[in-house]
Amino acid sequence: MSKNKVLYEGKAKQLFLTEKDDELIQFFKDDATAFNKKKHEIIDSKGVLNNLISENIFNYLGKNGVPNHFIKRLNEREQLIKKVEIIPIEVVVRNKAAGTFTKRFGIEEGKDLPGTLIEFNLKDDEHDDPLVSDEHIKVFKWANQNEIDEIKEKAIVINRLLNELFNKIGIILVDFKIEFGRFNSGKKVEIILADEISPDSCRLWDIKSNEKLDKDRFRRNLGGLIEAYKEVATRLGIDLSNF
Ligand code: TMP
Ligand code: ASP
Repeated sequence: MSKNKVLYEGKAKQLFLTEKDDELIQFFKDDATAFNKKKHEIIDSKGVLNNLISENIFNYLGKNGVPNHFIKRLNEREQLIKKVEIIPIEVVVRNKAAGTFTKRFGIEEGKDLPGTLIEFNLKDDEHDDPLVSDEHIKVFKWANQNEIDEIKEKAIVINRLLNELFNKIGIILVDFKIEFGRFNSGKKVEIILADEISPDSCRLWDIKSNEKLDKDRFRRNLGGLIEAYKEVATRLGIDLSNF
């Protein structure tokens, strides 16, 4: 699979065209950003770990009936994915209070929420990914009501599956962000999970110590980000002997 020109450059990934119209290559960079790039560092090998972890999680979700864009990992930083039209909404699922939620509602970090909460943020770095409601999404035609309903249903299923996965390996899934895209199979347009799921896009705490095993290590200058991501990978059963 040969790489062509860059289709999209994000903060932590690049997407390349391939010779096939319906496939792209997703490249994981080492860039770590937070607070919309106000904080930015290169963390050696982060991209390699996120590629492996995201592969593992997308495979797990695929096996459990969640259609997604992942086809196969190509090498240490790249994976082949189905080309989708990304819905420009960051779908955040929260099980416990953390991050911007604690600030918005004055609820202490780590508090269980009364139920699983789904929030939407517009993908718009210039305006700090503002929180939006179903109404914004419909009026601005980022997605229609059926798509919003489907996204919510899928987000709940993904949350259940990820909770099961992480619980088994002694990790609390505090919250995470996912993205969806429209995949045109020629016969129909289907909404599938896209982007990545990694410690960059989840909050993961060790079940015994509550130690943070995710990008909060960078956001909060705690250090030890690579060690934490390696710990997540190892617990997921990923072979790091070549790492
Ligand atoms: P937040 O606390 O910053 O709103 O983030 C909630 C979760 O979603 C957290 O696990 C980080 C993830 N997230 C991203 O990965 N990228 C984003 O742009 C946003 C808004 C959240
Ligand atoms: N994705 C955002 C950024 O990179 C927010 C975050 O993850 O903290 O700035």
